[in-house]
Amino acid sequence: MDEARKAQYLEALGIDVWRSRSAAGVTAPAAPAAPAARAAPAASEVRAAPDEGWEALRAAVRDCTQCSLHRTRTQSVFGVGDPRAEWLVIGEAPGAEEDRRGEPFVGRAGQLLDAMLAAIGLARGRNVYIANVLKSRPPGNRDPKPEEVASCLPYLARQIELIRPVLILAVGRIAAQNLLATDLPLGRLRGRVHSFGPLNSPLVVTYHPAYLLRNQSLSEKRRVWEDMLQVMERLGLPISQKQRDYFLKSAG
Ligand code: URA
Repeated sequence: MDEARKAQYLEALGIDVWRSRSAAGVTAPAAPAAPAARAAPAASEVRAAPDEGWEALRAAVRDCTQCSLHRTRTQSVFGVGDPRAEWLVIGEAPGAEEDRRGEPFVGRAGQLLDAMLAAIGLARGRNVYIANVLKSRPPGNRDPKPEEVASCLPYLARQIELIRPVLILAVGRIAAQNLLATDLPLGRLRGRVHSFGPLNSPLVVTYHPAYLLRNQSLSEKRRVWEDMLQVMERLGLPISQKQRDYFLKSAG
């Protein structure tokens, strides 16, 4: 990922961006504005009066025209779940079904995500919040464009600020790379706990459920289960024998 794009993402998340003196001679200027209709709002600008919080943010996302995706979406997809959740699951962007229903992860991939959560004793809306990097569907389910991500990240940053999750689970390469401002492949991002955003929220990466639907191999299922166990350990959740057995079974 080139430095300008990385700086743009980090700035959108409210993280100060510095360039080394030896490289630039001076402190880096603010990252260039996203080439969107209007400059992306900083997370702090998305912040509403304290008593408004969620509702103001929801309205801002609903009415957002920061990038061209507002022209093709049916509706924006804000996020769903427990606003006090310890867990925050972040995917890439709404698909066709999500765009139609206004809720993230409601298609086939969503059903598998629900099953992954159930395997570790969680359910949608109970101690879990689910959101996406993009709040609007890219036409034809294409990958998000950098300027769309830069426009939308402040909304996610504000959601994180309000939820203050104990742990973020980024599902899939696109979510992980955009959140961590890196081009590293997903295989290199799995298996460790990253730190995300100004609150240094712990972030773990795993495969996207849609990828698992396409690749039914046991080794991939096993890796997801390893990731989920890692998350449980991180949260201090008890791991039952049944869950460990499930892991062994998945391991083939
Ligand atoms: N895939 C995602 O990344 N997010 C959704 O909401 C649905 C499918």
